[in-house]
Amino acid sequence: MIEVADRLKQVEEYYFSKKLKEVAFLKSQGHPIINLGIGSPDLNPPIKATMALKDSFDDAGVHKYQSYQGLPELRDAMASFYKSQYNVDLSAATEILPLMGSKEGIMHISMAFLNAKDEVLIPNPGYPTYTSVTKLLQAKPLLYDLKEENHWLPDFVALERMDLSKVKIMWINYPHMPTGMDANHKFYDDVIAFGKRHNILIVNDNPYSFILTQKPKSILQYRGAKDTCLELNSISKTFNMAGWRVGMLIGKYELVNAVLKVKSNMDSGMFYGIQKGAIEALKSSDIWFESVNSVYRNRKKLVLQLAKLLNCMCNEDDTGLFVWAKLPSGVKSEEFVDTLLKEHSIFITPGTVFGTNGEGYVRFSLCAESALIEEAINRVK
Ligand SMILES: Cc1ncc(COP(=O)(O)O)c(C=O)c1O
Repeated sequence: MIEVADRLKQVEEYYFSKKLKEVAFLKSQGHPIINLGIGSPDLNPPIKATMALKDSFDDAGVHKYQSYQGLPELRDAMASFYKSQYNVDLSAATEILPLMGSKEGIMHISMAFLNAKDEVLIPNPGYPTYTSVTKLLQAKPLLYDLKEENHWLPDFVALERMDLSKVKIMWINYPHMPTGMDANHKFYDDVIAFGKRHNILIVNDNPYSFILTQKPKSILQYRGAKDTCLELNSISKTFNMAGWRVGMLIGKYELVNAVLKVKSNMDSGMFYGIQKGAIEALKSSDIWFESVNSVYRNRKKLVLQLAKLLNCMCNEDDTGLFVWAKLPSGVKSEEFVDTLLKEHSIFITPGTVFGTNGEGYVRFSLCAESALIEEAINRVK
């Protein structure tokens, strides 16, 4: 038997990778599964994006290796998008690095800045990849609490009491997944000041800023952010293009260039046609965002009804692609999810997937047609 590397012994297979196999098995046995578990947008991308991908096959050089930094037009489109949507000025030449999805950026950033045994502040609850990537690099995750009573924002007083001497990176993710909390202006000012005070790289993972928010925010809108922050963004949720794998890293040249050094040793550029499609998506007008959000608003009303029938409590003002719901006191997340799957063939995500502070909560995805959510409501009724 060939031994796997020690680093692999510290991480488990991704929850969804395991659980979706079980869900697929139940489906193959004839169970009429309604999947409200995963946040993979089911709506179509902008038509211009798919047309541009199709048309790209007529261009010379379409099948060739592409630049490590993406097409200049793609970086220009990303810069214009940041200007028009967030009012952030960026140099397309030096402050933007196109990525194959923001998830890979979590690994690339970590490889660029972490040595073994460095420490990383990670939200609990939060996106599980921050922890697994940190462990894969043999650095140490330091989980920081997000609690409902503190509006799912970090408690900076508690953070200041920690020994931060070995902390190199702090992951933040607002609008927050899984809780749907959108951070206020004060939070961004505080976190930037915190990063500067302790020489910590603050990375805002920002894929949900257009989904059911009042106004999209970027950490780079805030004074001093470029000194100590990077931001990951993505077209996966914003333009319903999760499978295309297009994201972006934004920040000052020195930081972005360090990540490029890693990335250029790992892949050989993004497929030309995908870049052409992404350019068109990024040019979408405000009508696009409103049309997507009107669908999610309707679905959300139904999911809130479903959650209520299941005796869960939700905050209707939460943002993002999910509804985060508090279970009745004493009910365990995973038991609740398994029972719902067994009794009603409805799959939702237990809050514990996102950390210990997710115990007592579940997450419903809005990535399912209204008719399916209505069917789920009828089953529970
Ligand atoms: C918080 C968060 N960050 C990053 C990602 C990765 O998105 P992508 O790699 O598709 O850009 C996801 C996807 O679900 C997410 O929820």
